[in-house]
Amino acid sequence: MDQQPPIDYRLLVDNLSTAILLVDRNLNIFYLNSSCETLFDISLLRAMGQPVLNILQSPGDSFDTADALTNTVNTGQAYTRREATIIVNFKDVHVDYSVVRLNAGKPYHPLLLIELNPIDRMLKISKEENLIQQHQVARQLIRGVAHEIKNPLGGIRGATQLLARSLNDPQYAEFTNIIISEVDRLRNLADTMLGSRQLPSYEWVNVHEPLERVRALIVNQTKKKIKITRDYDLSLPEVMADRDQLIQVMLNISVNAVQAMTENKEFFEEEQPELSLRTRIQRLVTINGVLHRSAIRIDIADNGPGVPEDILESVFYPLVTGRAKGTGLGLSIAQNIMHQHNGMIECQSVPGKTVFSLYIPWELNHVAK
Ligand SMILES: Nc1ncnc2c1ncn2[C@@H]1O[C@H](COP(=O)(O)OP(=O)(O)OP(=O)(O)O)[C@@H](O)[C@H]1O
Ligand SMILES: [Mg+2]
Repeated sequence: MDQQPPIDYRLLVDNLSTAILLVDRNLNIFYLNSSCETLFDISLLRAMGQPVLNILQSPGDSFDTADALTNTVNTGQAYTRREATIIVNFKDVHVDYSVVRLNAGKPYHPLLLIELNPIDRMLKISKEENLIQQHQVARQLIRGVAHEIKNPLGGIRGATQLLARSLNDPQYAEFTNIIISEVDRLRNLADTMLGSRQLPSYEWVNVHEPLERVRALIVNQTKKKIKITRDYDLSLPEVMADRDQLIQVMLNISVNAVQAMTENKEFFEEEQPELSLRTRIQRLVTINGVLHRSAIRIDIADNGPGVPEDILESVFYPLVTGRAKGTGLGLSIAQNIMHQHNGMIECQSVPGKTVFSLYIPWELNHVAK
């Protein structure tokens, strides 16, 4: 019989979509796999040696995690917790997790194996699918309305010009000019509602190029009144994308952030308004039901007052706006462009920290069921 090749267990564990954590007898982290790094948003290097309770024990939780873990260390009794809340980057993440004791005999070896299953991810996948569907329906509706508005505008404009000429009286010119300029304004709005008619032209793009273009535009526009920080992972691979469309997405999001900060100056007492641009590789991202092993993630964050709570859920819908002069199209157009790139935009916002994250996959793995 043929001998089986040896299995590389490390590779196997690192490719599991379940998050796995090994803890030593002092309840310090000994190892975490890639899924766990993603879940906790921390690298193995930084996590090693840290007390596991920093992650597993949330402040308001009445369950004594230290006691339960110590009990498993001493007695070998495994346990499972359902819907536990852990805190990752100031956010609550809900997980089911189980704890088993491994080799009790060897004092310096990892002792506890903790397997975590985020519940939010499943909730998020179905929520995202719903959102994308609703978003597409809304966009079709908007395009339909924009078409209907646009159709008669050419006629109105032409007729007004004829009228102005035949009246030939300066006292009426003021009125005909108003009609023409309002018609033009409406046509621009309808064009924005229709979105770009140009087909995307894909090429290999280093995402830092469009990002730097947008940064330069914002610096120019805000005259250094806003601090801009950069934290780029320059080793990111290039992606197939439409460069100009990426600029539009990044600009729409950055302009919103700048508007939120400059239009709410009273929010800033001691802190300075700050826009931060950050790029990273993100492992295991589900976008529209497809699990991607790896995606490029671009975070555009600001420390302004945050997206108004009543529109946070629907912020990507067309015509949803929290600003008196806003049209509510910027984010809907941006999300649409990202969908065309098989990517997506996510938003997380609390007063003082708003992050819009763009995901562009560059490795397609398999379809999530
Ligand atoms: N960084 C942010 N901070 C606070 N609120 C935000 C931020 N980004 C977006 N918003 C809120 O989301 C709303 C929708 O944004 P969106 O760009 O779609 O439309 P808009 O900015 O109102 O109009 P426009 O079509 O001119 O872009 C904004 O009106 C604002 O209330
Ligand atoms: Mg906007």
